[in-house]
Amino acid sequence: MAWFSLTADVKHEELERTESILHDCEPSGLEVRDGPGGMPGIRAPASGEAIVVAYFDGKVAASKAEKELKKSNPAARTTIEKVEDKDWSTEWKTRIKNVTVGRLWVGPPWDVEKAAPHLMRLVIEPKMAFGTGDHPTTSLCLAAVDMFMAAHAGASVLDIGTGTGVLAFAAAKLGASRVVATDNDPVAVALAKEAARENDIDGVEISTKSLKQVSGTFDLVVANILANTLIELAPLIVPKVGKRLVLAGILAPQAESVSGTFVKRGLTALEPTAQGEWVRLDFERR
Ligand SMILES: C[S@@+](CC[C@H](N)C(=O)[O-])C[C@H]1O[C@@H](n2cnc3c(N)ncnc32)[C@H](O)[C@@H]1O
Repeated sequence: MAWFSLTADVKHEELERTESILHDCEPSGLEVRDGPGGMPGIRAPASGEAIVVAYFDGKVAASKAEKELKKSNPAARTTIEKVEDKDWSTEWKTRIKNVTVGRLWVGPPWDVEKAAPHLMRLVIEPKMAFGTGDHPTTSLCLAAVDMFMAAHAGASVLDIGTGTGVLAFAAAKLGASRVVATDNDPVAVALAKEAARENDIDGVEISTKSLKQVSGTFDLVVANILANTLIELAPLIVPKVGKRLVLAGILAPQAESVSGTFVKRGLTALEPTAQGEWVRLDFERR
C-alpha cells in the first residue's frame, strides 16, 4: 500500500477544527505548520493561515478525509499527493546540513570527514535541542562570535538560550577566557553538557540558572531566542553586557521594537545583519 498526504491550507482560526476533523479520520500522522520560519525547504503557511498535513495509508482514505474537511470548511485549499518511498528512519538526516562560518565548521557526526582540515570543528548530534548550526539564526550568531573573538582575544562570553551549546562551544574553541551558557530547558542543558564532553570542551559553565543567578559581566553576550522573550529579558540581559550584545531569533518586522527596547536601556545599536527573513541585532556598550 502506498502512502498519501492530504495537505490543507486553512485560515488560522480554522486550525483547531481542521486538526480535529482530520484526527477523526484516523491518519497515520498529522503535521501542523502554524508560523513563519519553519524548516528550510518546507513550505510555510501564508500570513494568517496554517497548514495541516495528514498522512494516510492509501488514496481512498486521503480522499475520504478531504471530503470530510470540505464539508465543514469549503474554503480549505487541499491537495493530495503520493508520498515518495523513502527510508524514514534516515531521511531526516539529509535535512541536517553542515555549515562553515568564519573559522568554524559545525555539523553532524556523519559529515565530519567533509570538514576542511584548517577549520575548528564542532560536532553536534541532532537531538531534542535547537542549534545544529544550519538554522539562519544560529549561523548569524556563529559569524558574530567568530568576528568578536578575532578582535578580542580571551574575551568572556555569556550565551543565553544555549540549546545544544553550539555558540558557547564556538566561543570556547575560539579562545574565550570564561564561557557561561544558560537555558531554561533542562533537557537542552543535559544535551549541551553531553555535547561539551563529545567535543572535548572543558570549563564551559552550563546550567538552567536564571540571569539573576549569573555573576559578573561579559565582554560578549549572545542570545538567540525569540523576539518577545528578548524584550521580556531585556532588564536582565543589559546589565550583563560588558562590550557587545548580539541578539537573534528576530524576524524582520520585529527588529525595530527589539532594537528600541535595548537602545532605551543604554546600548548603542550597530548595523543589523539579515539572512532571509531573520535579523541579527548587534549592540555596543559605549
Ligand atoms: C533558538 S534556540 C537557540 C539555540 C542556540 N543558542 C543556537 O543559537 O542555535 C533558543 C533556546 O533558548 C531557550 N530559551 C527560551 N526561553 C528562554 C529563557 N527565558 N531563558 C533561557 N533560555 C530560554 C530555549 O530552550 C532554546 O534552547
